[in-house]
This record gives sequence, C-alpha cells and structure tokens, in this order.
Amino acid sequence: DSDDNEVSYDVAFQQVPANVGDQVWVPEGYTVDVLFSAGDAVVAGATAFTGTFLGSADTEKFAGGNHDGMHYFELPGQDPNKRGLLAINHEFPDYRVLFASGSYDAATATDEQKKIALSAVGISVIEVQKDDDGNWSVVADSAHNKRYTGNTVYNVGGPAAAVLGDTVVGMLNNCASGHTPWGTYLTCEESTDNYLDPTQPEEGYGWVVEIDPRNELTGMPVKRTALGRFDHENTAYMMGSDNRLAVYMGDDGTPGCIYKFVPSGSYNASDRAANAHLLDEGTLYVAKFNADGTGQWIPLVQGQNGLTAGATDPGNVTQGAQTPVTIDFNTQADVLINTKAAARVAGGTLMDRPEWITVAPDKKIYVTLTNNGGRQVTDEANPRVTNRHGHIITWTEQGNSPLATSFNWEIFLLAGDPRLADEHLKGDINGDTFSSPDGILVDPEGRLWVQTDASTSDTVTNTFGNNSMYYIDQETRASRRFLVGPTGCEITGLAYTPDLKTFFVNIQHPTGTWPSNQPGNNAALPARSSTIVVRHEDGKPIGA
Ligand code: FEO
Ligand code: CA
Ligand code: CA
Ligand code: CA
Repeated sequence: DSDDNEVSYDVAFQQVPANVGDQVWVPEGYTVDVLFSAGDAVVAGATAFTGTFLGSADTEKFAGGNHDGMHYFELPGQDPNKRGLLAINHEFPDYRVLFASGSYDAATATDEQKKIALSAVGISVIEVQKDDDGNWSVVADSAHNKRYTGNTVYNVGGPAAAVLGDTVVGMLNNCASGHTPWGTYLTCEESTDNYLDPTQPEEGYGWVVEIDPRNELTGMPVKRTALGRFDHENTAYMMGSDNRLAVYMGDDGTPGCIYKFVPSGSYNASDRAANAHLLDEGTLYVAKFNADGTGQWIPLVQGQNGLTAGATDPGNVTQGAQTPVTIDFNTQADVLINTKAAARVAGGTLMDRPEWITVAPDKKIYVTLTNNGGRQVTDEANPRVTNRHGHIITWTEQGNSPLATSFNWEIFLLAGDPRLADEHLKGDINGDTFSSPDGILVDPEGRLWVQTDASTSDTVTNTFGNNSMYYIDQETRASRRFLVGPTGCEITGLAYTPDLKTFFVNIQHPTGTWPSNQPGNNAALPARSSTIVVRHEDGKPIGA
C-alpha cells in the first residue's frame, strides 16, 4: 500500500564507546534489566537453577542456554505493550548450569546426561508483563509458559516426510528465528548434524520448525521440510498485496547460499487455522548474484536446473579447485534433504556465511554476511579474500514482489576497521566501526539495527570493543553503537513491543561473571546467557 515506502523517524541517542568489560552498556537515558537467564523456571511448577545441579525431569522445564533469535507475540485480549509472549531460541546448552564439571562430552555421556544436554536446546515460550513502574517480568507459572527441547517429538511436514517419517525426536542448534503473518514462530536449526546425540539419524535436523506459541493450532510443532535442509540462520517474510508471500533464509555455511520459499497458497487473514499447512507446499529458490548488480532466483525443483540423477556437485569452489562429486536427485525429498548440494548444482552464489535477513517496511531486503576467513576466490557479491570482518548486502525484488524471479542488489557496507592497514580489513563504514555483523532487523519505524558476533579471541577484532548492537542509517550508511555486551558474549536476538518502547535483546555465552555481578542477581551463580530488557527512560521508541 502507499504507506509502505514512507520511512520517517528520529535517531537521537549518543553512541556508547567501544567498551571492553563485564557489563552491558546502553546510551544515557536508557535502562537495561536482566529478564530471563539460562536455568530460570519456565513451565508451571518448574524448579529454577540456584546453584544445585538438577536431573533431566527438572532441566526439561527450565530455560535452555545460549539465547538467540526471538519474537514477541501479542496475546488476544491483552494490551500488547504491557503483556505478551516471548518465544526464545536456545542455540546450545549453557553447561555451567547443567553439570558441576561445566562441560559435556557426547562420546562418554550417560543417557541421563544426554537428556540433560538436549533439554537445554530448543525454545522457551514465556509470558511476560510490564508493571506500573515499567519493569518487565516473567509471569510465573503461566499456562502459556512452555519448553520445546531436544527431547520433544516433532511432526514432519512437506515432501521430505516421505523419507523422514511422520515424526522426529528433538530439534537442536536453534539459532535465529522468524515468524509468520498468522502468528506462529519459525525456529531455525543451524546444524544438520545431531552432535549432541549421535544415535539419532542426521536427516532429522537442519530444518525450519513451525511452532504456535499460543498452542492453539493443532498438529504443531512441525519441521517444515519444503523450506530445505541447511545451516538455517533465520527467516524473514515479505507479504504481497494479494496475500502471497515469500520466506527469505540464509545458510550460515562457509560459504552458504541465500534462499527463498514461496508457498503455493496465499495467507488467509480471517481464518488462522487455514494457514496451518501453508509452508508445506511451494517453491524453494536459491539466489544467484550476477556481477552487474542483477540477480536471479533459481527454482530448486527436481528435474529442473540440473537436479536429476547423476548430477555434478562442483563443491566449495570459493576455496580453489575442487573434485566434483556425483549426486542423485531422484525426488524432491532428495533435493530438500541435500539442499546445499542442490543449490551448488543449480548455480546459486556461494556467499560469505549469510546470517540474518530482514525485510524493511519499504521492502528493501538486507542480509549480513558475517565473515569467511576461508575465501580464496572472490566474486562481486563477496569481494574480499580472507573476509575476516564480513559485509552487508541489500537487494530489492523486481516490482517489490515476493513472487519475483529477479532482483537488483548492491553491497550496503564492508565491515572492518579503517585504522587497519590491510585493504581487506579496513572496511568502508562511515562512522563507528564493527566486525562480523550477524543479527539484523529493520524495525517497523524503519530503524536498521545490527548485532555483532566477532570472535572474542581474535586480537584484530579487539579494536572493536566487546560485541555490540548498532543503529545504521540506511541513506548515509553511518553506524552508531547503541549497546555493548559483557565479556565473551555475542549480541543476538531482537524483539520489541508494538510501541517500540521496549526492546528485548539476548546476551549469548558471556564468559565473565555477568549477570551475577549486576544488582539484584544471585552473585553465587556462574555467567549465564540471558534476555535483557532495554527501555528509554523518557518513554520514546528505542533509538528516538
Ligand atoms: Fe547461530 Fe549463524 O549463528
Ligand atoms: Ca547468528
Ligand atoms: Ca554468528
Ligand atoms: Ca552463537
């Protein structure tokens, strides 16, 4: 509609310095609180981790670890700015809240230890509320509070169900996420290999899993195999005027491709349940970025674009000459289970680790290419060998349509530090500097936010301070540091209330003493991955 291209907003915060230390920094005039940490109670009646190590019956009910992608869902009948549901991914266990040793070895683990480790991945759904003073808390024992873990049974939808069967036990490595127009959560399995339980077959992992956080739609949760199997980062959708949509996805592989899935059907806005199988039938495409700034979406359909028996997978040609491998695509299930190979066969462009994708209100699409130290052969969309700091690409679909089969793209920025002499590390950012963009989201008022996941052991990246969250001006491409995380963490996950006055952000894998060193937190507990709440003290939208 006509409002789609109008973006107007204020950005008035003073940037935070490139700090290094064991706390969370936000600009003057903002507050930050810890909301929800690994080991906190979730399911009604759960026992929280308070320093005593618990068995799997208990860990299955408390918060998993390594909080990552998340989304805030409105609850019917509630003021959405004061009460709602947060669905939060747990990418990996925080072993320090599970085992006295603080570690885990899949090769020697007992069945009970495996069960405990697998309880700490998946997602949490928590009901959250804001009190009259503006402070947010988890609604204890809410009937909405749920865990879906590495031990839960999931349904299987789409063409690969013919191979996988009707159910799979567990989901894991729940990295980033997305949501649908019909109010379901899409949690993304970043790994195709169940390293936490090698007794399980591999084909069951590496999918997008659809879950109804309100637990109303029958048959949920479901592994949606039509969306392909790869190292899924997140999903972001674009809706067309005719209620047709596309779901965009990155493969965080070194390298990996960019995909979109276009359901055959259209979104039904008046009947929520009518959308329950929309993600089971449609066309999966891989992106080809041409040198001249154009691009194509290539259908990954068995029998087309070389996807036949005896196909030749060229392999990872970005690292130099490879030995091609023969692979059979006899069915669409073969294409979906081996999506990475299918994409290479069909001519998809191998990108420098596509992490999050976001669709802005003006229908511009952005993707973070976080880094790829192994790149030796460049192309126009991945222009740096040994791409240590990553870049961001933006594209627009032909006619701004989710159904487009072509697009126009450009490099939005090259991350890096202008103080470094090496051309491949310098970057071209106007303003503040950063490395390894990962989370990216354009909020509904049009502010572009980027979160970083630079290696904290890398002495070069230490010039950037701790991992941070930035605002980036879409016109000037200047960046401004909004939030700095504590020692050892990456910043990931961004959810907000509709008024944009509350941001929820995840602090993943801190290694110091945070958040135990913050007022009001148990000083005896180890560092824990946590969801924090950021608010503007004068009640304006975040960033304004
Ligand atoms: Fe789990 Fe690609 O970050
Ligand atoms: Ca990530
Ligand atoms: Ca990352
Ligand atoms: Ca991570």
